Amino acid sequence: MKQIIIAIDGPAGSGKTSSAKIVAEKLNYIYIDTGAMYRAVTLAWLREKVPLTAEKLKEVIDTINITLEPSANGQITKLNDEDVSEAIRSEEVNRFVSQISADKYVREAMVNLQRKLAEGKGCVMDGRDIGTTVFPNAALKIYLTASIGARAKRRLNEYAEKGITGLGFNEIATQILERDRFDSNREVSPLRKANDAIEIDTSNLTLQEQSEKIYKLALDIINN
Ligand code: CDP
Repeated sequence: MKQIIIAIDGPAGSGKTSSAKIVAEKLNYIYIDTGAMYRAVTLAWLREKVPLTAEKLKEVIDTINITLEPSANGQITKLNDEDVSEAIRSEEVNRFVSQISADKYVREAMVNLQRKLAEGKGCVMDGRDIGTTVFPNAALKIYLTASIGARAKRRLNEYAEKGITGLGFNEIATQILERDRFDSNREVSPLRKANDAIEIDTSNLTLQEQSEKIYKLALDIINN
């Protein structure tokens, strides 16, 4: 089968990660959740308890090792050989990840790693800047969107499944909007739809429906 890069970008809670996983599995491609990498950097910085400055972030980046391993349900994220797949989803990481991701040095390091992991392979990669910066020549670019109501509801359900309580719908919606605003307005590689990306609004789609749409678009390219 032809090996292509499928870039899936979009704001928080638009369904990127879940659909990327399904599409990768159907195509037998590797799947890379780039958000997990920025989350791992954020966790490493939180653990160091150092101020949020470019200098300290450089020190953190230069001393850590982030690896991604395929697993039955997508991807295991490792920070210096420790499985941090759960720890990077904490509320605290959510709170700081956008600020950490705006740092130029952090982005350079992560983008290099992302290119190295996927170059020449069949890969579904999801993030904020995959179609614009990481792989501007990706064969298929998808930009997922959804209403803020739908996105907050999904995050609320996700938290409930994990037993995380205490955050209500309104708080979650506010956090998501803040992160979107920060991601869209940063200087380096802001969240933006690539000109040649196909936009899919997932507000009223099930996970199966949205994944099927992307899968069909991918097959069209792979088989031609
Ligand atoms: O799952 P969710 O959409 O909430 O977030 P994520 O994909 O895990 O990404 C977390 C954060 O990492 C985003 O809010 C961005 O600040 C940052 N990120 C980024 O800057 N570039 C990427 N390619 C992926 C994530």
